[in-house]
Amino acid sequence: MAMTIKPLSAVMAAEVTGADLTKLDRAMAKELSRALVEHLALCIRDQDLTPAQYGAAAHIFGAPKLQVLRGNRLAEVPEVSVISTTNEIGGDEPHVRATHWHTDDSYLAVPAKATMLYPRELPSAGGDTQFINCHAVLEAMPDALRRRIEGLRAVHVYRSRRAGAKVAVRTDVEREETPDVVHPLIRSHPESSRQALYINPNRIERVEGMDEAESDALLDELYAFAFEARFQYHHEWRLGDVVIWDNRCTMHRAMADFDIQEPRALHRVLLEGTVPV
Ligand SMILES: [Fe+2]
Repeated sequence: MAMTIKPLSAVMAAEVTGADLTKLDRAMAKELSRALVEHLALCIRDQDLTPAQYGAAAHIFGAPKLQVLRGNRLAEVPEVSVISTTNEIGGDEPHVRATHWHTDDSYLAVPAKATMLYPRELPSAGGDTQFINCHAVLEAMPDALRRRIEGLRAVHVYRSRRAGAKVAVRTDVEREETPDVVHPLIRSHPESSRQALYINPNRIERVEGMDEAESDALLDELYAFAFEARFQYHHEWRLGDVVIWDNRCTMHRAMADFDIQEPRALHRVLLEGTVPV
């Protein structure tokens, strides 16, 4: 069966069918990498992968990196980590992580360029992952607002006072690895050269050079604009999906709209990125 790639929405994301990630030739791998830059996220359907095969497939798109939180790494394939309603986050109750808009890893000096998720257990209903196209946000932004953020940078921290979602407690080693960092509010995509709004409502503490009140007001305004429904794609998971998205020009969040007693677990791989410019 030939590999086909078709858009999943007018906003972003494409569906890939007819591809087996364990048997891609060089031309197909190149085509998928190109399609990721064009569509910002890909859903590769009908995959049946062991953790080792999944970790190996990530090399199609880049170099897998180890995630900060040791406790979530898979022992047999450490570059694959588990996101589950039973992850330790402080307290024993089941919970959904990452329920507020964010881009992965922005609290690091060199954030992951892309993230892959492969569901292993899904609830009977709900539990979608939602995305925002941050190229589209910037391109639609009123000129007056855009002029106010040109050249500005934001301080990203592991545990922001403004965070909407709980974050896991770090060990001392993990804390040392994650000092506060500064990134531009507008970044250029290193492959497409397109510019995108680069914000992370879960990790931004403040805009550099502003007092707290001025910074909060600007961030509130930026977030309200970026969260408009017209910039969003909602992904309804099927078992067998491998979804990869570009963290440099998108945000995402998990929906906590399912029965929390039902299991939801996904295997995650992060890919090495570059310093945002
Ligand atoms: Fe995330």
